[in-house]
Amino acid sequence: MQIGTTLSQFIIEETRLYPGATGDFAALLNDLTVACKFIAAQVQRGALVGALGSAGTDNVQGEAQKKLDIISNDAILHSMDWTGHLAGMVSEEMDAPYVLPAGIPRGKYLLLFDPLDGSSNIDVGISVGTIFSVLRAPVAGRDAVAADFLQPGVEQVAAGYALYGSSNMLVYSTGYGVNGFTLEPSIGEYVLTHTQMRIPEDTSEYAINASNHRHWQEPVRRYIDELMAGRDGPRGRDFNMRWVGSMVADVHRLLCRGGIFLYPFDTRDPAKPGKLRLLYEANPMAFLVEQAGGAASTGTQRILEMEPQSLHQRVPVILGAKNEVERCVAYHREG
Ligand code: AHG
Ligand code: MN
Ligand code: MN
Ligand code: MN
Repeated sequence: MQIGTTLSQFIIEETRLYPGATGDFAALLNDLTVACKFIAAQVQRGALVGALGSAGTDNVQGEAQKKLDIISNDAILHSMDWTGHLAGMVSEEMDAPYVLPAGIPRGKYLLLFDPLDGSSNIDVGISVGTIFSVLRAPVAGRDAVAADFLQPGVEQVAAGYALYGSSNMLVYSTGYGVNGFTLEPSIGEYVLTHTQMRIPEDTSEYAINASNHRHWQEPVRRYIDELMAGRDGPRGRDFNMRWVGSMVADVHRLLCRGGIFLYPFDTRDPAKPGKLRLLYEANPMAFLVEQAGGAASTGTQRILEMEPQSLHQRVPVILGAKNEVERCVAYHREG
């Protein structure tokens, strides 16, 4: 019996691929995993530790916060704010960038995160997760300002997620493919279990919240209607549908067995051209999906090339199997 490759070992070995790497980044990811293990433990204990239910507050986007949204946000802030590797942090649950405590050196990285993804699933025992994105601070050694975080997704140094599901996993990429690690509870370590995850170019499975059908634009309606028509429609074969409602779980399924995921533009609210947030949901997931051989678009633009306008900006998201994403994008071009 042997311990497999631990995440700490893998990160250190991977960062040796980068000439001049100081080890700061490896340390940053390691510190983040401590928060993820803590959140995994709270999610697992749930009602036993009073972690379920509403916090009675709203976040900057007007969503009701769950207790676990706040517990997870605090866990990440406090696992990361002492390290000296960061110049600032942005989270779904905070209006403005988090200012690091006085007396801590300001580092060269920025951390952007969705502390608990899948809030609506917390209280009902369904998989949830944490999503993160790492950028380089434009100016190292000083407090980051909001504009520093508004970098296109192609600039991400790393992106990943923790999945709190039937197994607890940590999946991330630094631009050398996507690797997945499973938390081995007996030793409290993430161990490499999913090497170089790939999304096949074709698929017979799609994920979308179909209750929004009436709010979609014509190209997405056409695309989904054709999938639903199955072998009797223009696609000439049947497609299966899955929608967990936690982006982490839906994207994890794509990375494990392929598929396409859509939270497209919808016409419900002109102020919100989509539901998912660019900086800490769409960009990190688009980075992972592209690293796994898939594609990620808003329907009209590659997500990773978007110039962010604001910290909590929402965007339409279509990602996964390359040929399916390209087909859906082609329908947008055709109008
Ligand atoms: P969050 O819980 O971080 O606010 O994100 C929820 C998101 C995402 O996880 C999921 O794909 C989507 O909301 C589900 O939306 P619907 O409830 O509209 O299906
Ligand atoms: Mn939320
Ligand atoms: Mn989310
Ligand atoms: Mn969230």
